[in-house]
Amino acid sequence: MGKSSDQYYEVQEEAVHEIPQPGEPPKPWGRTGVVGKPIPRVDGYERVSGTAVYPSDLVLPNMLYGAILRCPHPHARVKSVDIGKAKGMPGVHAVISGFTQGANPDWVYSSFAKVEFPTKVFDPHCRFEGETVAAVAAETPYQAWDAAQAIRVSYEVLPYLVNELKALEKGAPQVHEKGNLVAEPQKYERGDVARGFAEADKVLEMTFHTACELHTPMELHGCVANWEGDRLTLWESTQGVYAVQSGVAKALDLPLSKVRVIGSYMGGGFGSKLRAGKYSVIAALLARAAARPVKLFLTREETYLATGNRPPSHMKLKAGVKKDGTLTALDFSCVGTGGAYPADGTSLVDWVVRDLYTCPNVRSEMTDVYIHAGPARPMRAPGHPQGAWALEQMLDALAEAIQMDPVELRLKNIPAASQARPGNPPYTSTGLKQCLEEGARVFGWKEAREKLSGQKREGHIRRGVGVAAALWVVGGGGPPSTVVVKLFADGSVNLNMGASDIGTGTKTVMAMVVSEELGIKPDLIQIENADTGTTQYATPSGGSKTVPTESPAVRAAAIEVKRLLLELAAAELKSEPSKLELKGGEITVREDPSASLKITDIKELGKRGVIVGVGYRGPNPEGKVVNPFAAQFCEVEVNMRTGETRILRFLGAHDSGRVLNRLTYDSQVIGGLTMGIGLAMTEERVLDRNHTGKLVNRNWHDYKLPTSLDVPAEMVSVPIDPGDAEANTTGAKGLGEPVTIPTAAAVANAVCHATGIRVTESPMTPVRLCALLAGRKKEG
Ligand code: MOS
Repeated sequence: MGKSSDQYYEVQEEAVHEIPQPGEPPKPWGRTGVVGKPIPRVDGYERVSGTAVYPSDLVLPNMLYGAILRCPHPHARVKSVDIGKAKGMPGVHAVISGFTQGANPDWVYSSFAKVEFPTKVFDPHCRFEGETVAAVAAETPYQAWDAAQAIRVSYEVLPYLVNELKALEKGAPQVHEKGNLVAEPQKYERGDVARGFAEADKVLEMTFHTACELHTPMELHGCVANWEGDRLTLWESTQGVYAVQSGVAKALDLPLSKVRVIGSYMGGGFGSKLRAGKYSVIAALLARAAARPVKLFLTREETYLATGNRPPSHMKLKAGVKKDGTLTALDFSCVGTGGAYPADGTSLVDWVVRDLYTCPNVRSEMTDVYIHAGPARPMRAPGHPQGAWALEQMLDALAEAIQMDPVELRLKNIPAASQARPGNPPYTSTGLKQCLEEGARVFGWKEAREKLSGQKREGHIRRGVGVAAALWVVGGGGPPSTVVVKLFADGSVNLNMGASDIGTGTKTVMAMVVSEELGIKPDLIQIENADTGTTQYATPSGGSKTVPTESPAVRAAAIEVKRLLLELAAAELKSEPSKLELKGGEITVREDPSASLKITDIKELGKRGVIVGVGYRGPNPEGKVVNPFAAQFCEVEVNMRTGETRILRFLGAHDSGRVLNRLTYDSQVIGGLTMGIGLAMTEERVLDRNHTGKLVNRNWHDYKLPTSLDVPAEMVSVPIDPGDAEANTTGAKGLGEPVTIPTAAAVANAVCHATGIRVTESPMTPVRLCALLAGRKKEG
């Protein structure tokens, strides 16, 4: 090993971190050398140059293409399926269906939220438009599509229900034999709500509605499936390779060791890629039937029909407040639907009502019903943006009723503990107050609010500013996670972890953690991730837990490598490991800097070839809660003639603990704001209630996502780090989901400030706003 590895290392003066005693967790970092810096993505070149192979890019020799035939009706029963013609079409190698002779009708897919509610991969009772009926594998995608269209299906078309507000009416079409109620309404109560309202100086009651948002990530849902004998490999666009592995193994009754799932790159997932899809199982079945690899990616239209959504919500909120801003009572109810299966149609919608502000008397009741529509899946902070839409607009209305500044009112009611959890456990840290204060300061809230409040209400262009706050129910991460770091004999490093980088920069952040401990430059670290065959176990990247779950495990693995390395060096330096330090690829005796050894000169390392360090995610603190907090501010301009709203600027102040990479952190804030703006302004699933029950907007033209022209050029991120030494060993909390929770409510509050009109239904389209403006004119 003559060659120097100097170029691999940077000498970090500030960052020499002690090695903890065996069995002890490492101390929180003091000053850091790499962590926190705005370092560009370590895989940026591959991603932008197109050399990164995403699952949808993969082409295998002899690969076939799959296509799925889906039920065109919102509710129907399959009477017969004739695959005769399809089978004989050019290029076709396999046709499968649950209804043809010889087929196994019992492939069970149990990937909905409730595991006790398995459904068949091909269920003759189709309960939503887009349910799977049959599938084809052929030599080209076009041949596969043509053959799927040539399958003759006879349906008994049944009455449908697509309006959740009518689900419990007498005579409504029944989605399941047991009726349309998913479960008994979920109830929560603390204190005495009636007494709370009696103590209030002002009581307001309002209804709110949020539209259903559809999942539509950049990379479509799907995979490439290949069998080698009885071993299956799937290259899948997923947030969690181990979750897909277990789902597919269960559906096909295979041992886990015979299912390998690889998803090193993937193009976006916001909760709809947390588990195996029916498409994963179907791809495997087609590949087995054809004895060829099969690539099965859904079309955008299929994605809209069948890969999930943020459920619509119908909320009622009554709130009481004293003149001094003390909240006295909150009474909340919500009706929602996760579609045709138990899919958490109301999950967590009431959480911000229960836990964001100090309030002794709170009640909530949530009713989840079935309709004949595609099942929901988790979507970026499930339930929370809906609940925040109601709660945060209510806070604004209360502030107005008692003539108090909206930021002040929120500051009056900051909790230090989780009131909605048994025993009221305290938070390890809460930066909610600083988010509001620092956010307001940087935004220039007071000045803007005063200036715009005092403006003459004339002209048709009106400006306003709005604020909203949030917390996210989880976001602290936790075990399990195992990570392996390998140090090669030349001093370079390999990082091995099971977690997916869903586009957020996970790989970059984790490389920085290794870099922080070992001193090696982040872009020199080889990263192997998201492969059940070769990388360590990880839970799916979701719940805003990837960084707080994985970074402590990565840190532990890097520290383990350092410990082993210093042991080897100590033997050769005739010293003790505790007397050594590692800096810039060199090990030095602290008290005798002349005694030093380069990593590449350690003979024993040269012999062994690698040092392997294993790291585990330790437990979260007992009796405490780790939650991220947020406050967002925006300024809007409303055209009173056309109802058009322009969002001029946005600011997100986020307590997500320690910032590990300022660049990916800010990107996450910008992405979350953009998605929240979609909820506020444009996104809405439209089901044709009157004529067909079918989904009307099923492409990127008709289903409007915000583009760069719909979001402000000025989106400012203000990180708030309360210095959380208890959450975990890196001090990071989740960011991905909290960033999208308060956004829509902040826009609505700004629109109300500008126009005097409270828009309680999302999205705030120009048509909706015009109708409200016209209604006000009529009232005079
Ligand atoms: Mo998220 S909804 O946990 O991907």
